[in-house]
Amino acid sequence: MEKVQAIQAFENVFGTKPDGLFTAAGRINVIGEHVDYCGGKVFPAALNLRCNVYGKKTGADVIRMAFTGIEGIVELKINDLNNYRALKIGNYQAGVAYFLQEKGIDIVGCDLYYDCTVPFGSGLSSSAAIEVATAVTLCEYAGVPYDKTELALLSQKAENQYAGVNCGIMDQFASAMGKKDCAVLLDCATLQYEYVPLQLRDYCLVVANCNKPHNLVESKYNVRRQEVETALKAIQTVKNVSCLAELSPKDFAEVKYLLSGVVAKRAEHVVMECDRVNRAVEALKAGDLLELGRLLNESHYSLRDLYEVTGKELDTLSALARKETDCLGSRMIGAGFGGCTISIVKKTAVDGFIRRVGTAYLEAIGYKASFYETSIEDGITVESL
Ligand code: GLA
Repeated sequence: MEKVQAIQAFENVFGTKPDGLFTAAGRINVIGEHVDYCGGKVFPAALNLRCNVYGKKTGADVIRMAFTGIEGIVELKINDLNNYRALKIGNYQAGVAYFLQEKGIDIVGCDLYYDCTVPFGSGLSSSAAIEVATAVTLCEYAGVPYDKTELALLSQKAENQYAGVNCGIMDQFASAMGKKDCAVLLDCATLQYEYVPLQLRDYCLVVANCNKPHNLVESKYNVRRQEVETALKAIQTVKNVSCLAELSPKDFAEVKYLLSGVVAKRAEHVVMECDRVNRAVEALKAGDLLELGRLLNESHYSLRDLYEVTGKELDTLSALARKETDCLGSRMIGAGFGGCTISIVKKTAVDGFIRRVGTAYLEAIGYKASFYETSIEDGITVESL
């Protein structure tokens, strides 16, 4: 929705004008999937698809929230923030407010209008965008200085401990710390990071949503986390490592005999994916887009065969992309089981790519994929209105 429309929507609901606009980004991840919670490096970038929060400080004892496309107002009482875990809409916001309060920040009453353009359940991290945008808004209204990395960590805590999804730090970090036209090479063990220009010359990234209905993603995600923890414990009986990402492919070959079945497959994915991240960043810096594309494909195959988080829809969508002569590589991003792919496509070929892949996907799966016009933008933004 355009800014003027959103301001009007705010006025319609709350009967007054907003005084600020606070935004945080949805994200893609170029490579480094399902490694953030294993201490690996990830390579996400913040999108133009965002959670936009139009706000007005009221000083009342309540946070009132309204949302584009949803009727009604959700209220969070400031002295009762621990009790909104069961909310279907507003629990991420409540979790963030609760943990800010727990840190000693004085939560100030406000009216908030959420215009979130990150599609829900798409693997583009709408939840992280909502959390981070809420955290910024509440800190701004409380008048306290904040560090963006700290807000990302607090948002992750809200998702882990309030919403019950055991996610890593990638999404919230990218949402807060993303930088225009750059991907963020983030070491999830140390939180050290580097911005790398996402220069693809005649190519661009096409983001496509397979539109598979959301189904038990959170619980399947939490199972994967347990599996890699089992692998780590077994390896720690012979090797002094604190996370799977510390193992090189060669180290892993030496300890693989300790693991079996799915646990072995999951760990192998993590170790090899960490290695691919380093190679992909080198390829990008050297301008070797062919190699970058190959690594994206390998990442997808590993997520399909070893980590088993793709499914028919994502496999079909990325395979159709790979068949295109002007596509250098394609893979699923995010948690998987549904959601989006990214593909490196020649700029002049994008229209035909979308048409052909879209048609063939509809034929194969029976419903449409969506393609988004994306650009890489900053993470958090703050504006007075
Ligand atoms: C989800 C999680 C992230 C990360 C990805 C997989 O997006 O929120 O922390 O684990 O899945 O890479």
